[in-house]
Amino acid sequence: MSHWTVQPGAPLCGRVCVPGDKSISHRALLLACIAEGTSCVDNFLPAADCLATLRAVRALGVEVEEPAPAQVIVHGRGLHGLREPACVLDCVRSGTAMRLLAGLLAGQPFLSLLTGDAQLRRRPMARVVEPLRLMGAVVLGRDGGRLPPLAIQGGGLHGIDYTLPVASAQVKSALLLAGLYADGPTTLHLPGPARDHTERMLLAMGGILDAYAGDWRSNLQPPAYASNFQLTPVERLHPVDLMVPGDFSSAAFLVVAATLVPGSEIAVEGVGVNPTRTGLLDALRAMGADVALHSERTVGGEPVADLIVRASVLRGVEIGGPLVVRAIDELPILAVAATQAQGETVVRDAGELRVKETDRIATTVQELRRLGAEIEPRPDGFVVHGPTPLHSLERSRRVHSHGDHRLAVALVVAGLIARGQTCVQDVDCIADSFPGFQAILARLGGQVS
Ligand code: S3P
Repeated sequence: MSHWTVQPGAPLCGRVCVPGDKSISHRALLLACIAEGTSCVDNFLPAADCLATLRAVRALGVEVEEPAPAQVIVHGRGLHGLREPACVLDCVRSGTAMRLLAGLLAGQPFLSLLTGDAQLRRRPMARVVEPLRLMGAVVLGRDGGRLPPLAIQGGGLHGIDYTLPVASAQVKSALLLAGLYADGPTTLHLPGPARDHTERMLLAMGGILDAYAGDWRSNLQPPAYASNFQLTPVERLHPVDLMVPGDFSSAAFLVVAATLVPGSEIAVEGVGVNPTRTGLLDALRAMGADVALHSERTVGGEPVADLIVRASVLRGVEIGGPLVVRAIDELPILAVAATQAQGETVVRDAGELRVKETDRIATTVQELRRLGAEIEPRPDGFVVHGPTPLHSLERSRRVHSHGDHRLAVALVVAGLIARGQTCVQDVDCIADSFPGFQAILARLGGQVS
């Protein structure tokens, strides 16, 4: 099994960029492939998750060129030009690929089969299967449609008025993709501020979304996170030339690392700071972190900034509600930060963590305890008592990612502040979302081998 050895060391210093945003890269492929004409996507994330979507798009008959590792040129076939795939579409470990593809394929008048590896085949699919069935698609899956593999016979969809039980961007996006093929408008109500990249991209391509009729291009805050909105089907989508911003979820690990390693000062340039994604910054600032946004600008309809981070002393914080939705992928690394904060950090309303790549409440608690953290699980989150010096005693020097990319990177960051050497096992999964992480950390002075 692959592993890395991490050593605590000198302050982290320097300026770096992180690879392109994972969520936006998936969406760029899926929307560009049904646009009429050629789209060019720069700073595309060539990570395992997005490459699964890329293979699926090709299997649907779409020509995609890769002139450079982080550039794709998608020759869109129009809304009605996709072809029935001759093979099963393998989403490997990517929940985003499977759920978004399910929505797109529900609109197609042919049969598609979607599967993934053992980890993905354990993840809940009823959240997309049920509303897609309400729209008229025939969707079958294991356990009555709750688990992959999925079989989808699409076409003949109706618009629905639907309230999502969870604030899930994947479900919202699946229904928007399906809604493009419905015979009338699709109205969605969300219980929270799920990331809105699909809406921004759809609008840029000529889609009609009602809650977004305002000045979304100039306003960095989407209107009240558009918890109610309506999609009206259009005849065609226009291609786009898109520059994908750096992934905030990848930058988050460097932000926390520089906050925790004494004396650090780093800049992470060109990071997407869409407010539906930056809950971690709000939480860290409430804890006393020193993170500034410089050169704020808009790139491809998304807010982007350079993040300037200096090491600081943290205090505990309580977070829940909408902030948790806006920080959902960053909660394992927030737990690492909380181990160094003075007092108690409480995370609640984060039950969704239980159905991510792993049960991230259980796995984060288990692995941080191995490093000496005082962390307790709660049904919908965790409580951390800090500050605790992390260590890697002989008895517990190995920590395990459980095949979860976010946990793997969070444990590497924990290793930067733990006494002694920390061995993080099963690190191949880091390539699911953050290829090049080791080199970027090394450029900042982090010691990982
Ligand atoms: C994602 C949405 C989130 C997030 C996932 C990526 C997306 O999941 O956790 O890593 O790209 O839409 P949910 O929408 O299920 O909350």
